[in-house]
Amino acid sequence: MINLQNINVSFRKGNTKSIFGKERQQVLKDVSMNVEEGDCVGIIGESGSGKSTLGCVICGLLKPDSGKVYVKKPISVVFQDYSTSVDPRFTVNDIIIESLTVRERRDGIKLNKDNEVYRLLELVGLGQEYILRYPHELSGGQLQRICIARAVALQPRIILFDEAISSLDAHTQVQVMDLLRQIKLKYSLTYVFITHDLTSVTYLCNKVLFLYNGQVVETCNIDGLRTIKNEYAKNLLNSIMDVPVK
Ligand SMILES: Nc1ncnc2c1ncn2[C@@H]1O[C@H](COP(=O)(O)OP(=O)(O)O)[C@@H](O)[C@H]1O
Ligand SMILES: [Mg+2]
Repeated sequence: MINLQNINVSFRKGNTKSIFGKERQQVLKDVSMNVEEGDCVGIIGESGSGKSTLGCVICGLLKPDSGKVYVKKPISVVFQDYSTSVDPRFTVNDIIIESLTVRERRDGIKLNKDNEVYRLLELVGLGQEYILRYPHELSGGQLQRICIARAVALQPRIILFDEAISSLDAHTQVQVMDLLRQIKLKYSLTYVFITHDLTSVTYLCNKVLFLYNGQVVETCNIDGLRTIKNEYAKNLLNSIMDVPVK
C-alpha cells in the first residue's frame, strides 16, 4: 500500500540571513518503510524527530529531496489540531459536504449528500442534532469525530493520523481509538498512526516504527516490542511498561 525508499528531506535553516545561504537542516535521513494492506503502522518519536514531515511525504504534501514514494491508494489525513483544521465559519454539515463534493468530482458521481452526512455522523457516534453546529459548539472529542467523518467521506483506502488523539483527555482518547478500530474493520482500511505516545500505539497498531532524529532506528511487530535492541526505543518502552525490556 505504501512503500518509501531512502527518503531524505532537508529544510533551509530558519533565520532570515540564511535565505541566501545554503545552510540546511536534514530532517529525514534515508527513511524507508513499508505498509501492507490492513496494517496499522505506528510512527513514534519525540517532538521534532520528523514524524509530521514523514506524514507530509506519505500523503504527498511534501516532495522529498531524494528517495522514492509509492502510495498506490487514495489517502485521507486527520491532524492533531482539529480546531484549526476546520473553518470556524463552517457548520458540521458544511465540513462533511465539502469532502463529499470533492469525492463527487473525483469519482464523477452524484451523491445524495444529505443522506451521506447522516450516515457519516452516525458512523462516528454523533446524532443528527449536531448537523448545524459550529466547531466552537463542539467538544474536542466531538470535533475530532467530525474530522474523522470528513476523512472517511472521501472513501480512502488509507488514513494517516498525525497526533490525531494527542490533544484529547485520556478517557476521550480511548473512545476515539475504539471508534478508529471499528471504522478500520468496517471499511478494511489501512492506517498510519503518528504519535509521541507509545501507549496508544500498543492499543491500536500491529507494527511500529521508531523515529529518532530523522532516522528510523527500529521497526518491529507489536508483539516483538519486548525484544527490541535499539537503546532509544528501549528507553521509550521502559518509561511506559512495568516489566523492564532487557
Ligand atoms: N516547513 C518547515 N521549514 C523548516 N523546518 C521545518 C519545517 N517543518 C518542520 N521543520 C523542522 O523539522 C524538524 C522535524 O519537524 P516535525 O516533522 O514537525 O517533527 P515532529 O512531528 O516529530 O514533532 C523540526 O526541527 C522542525 O523545526
Ligand atoms: Mg508533528
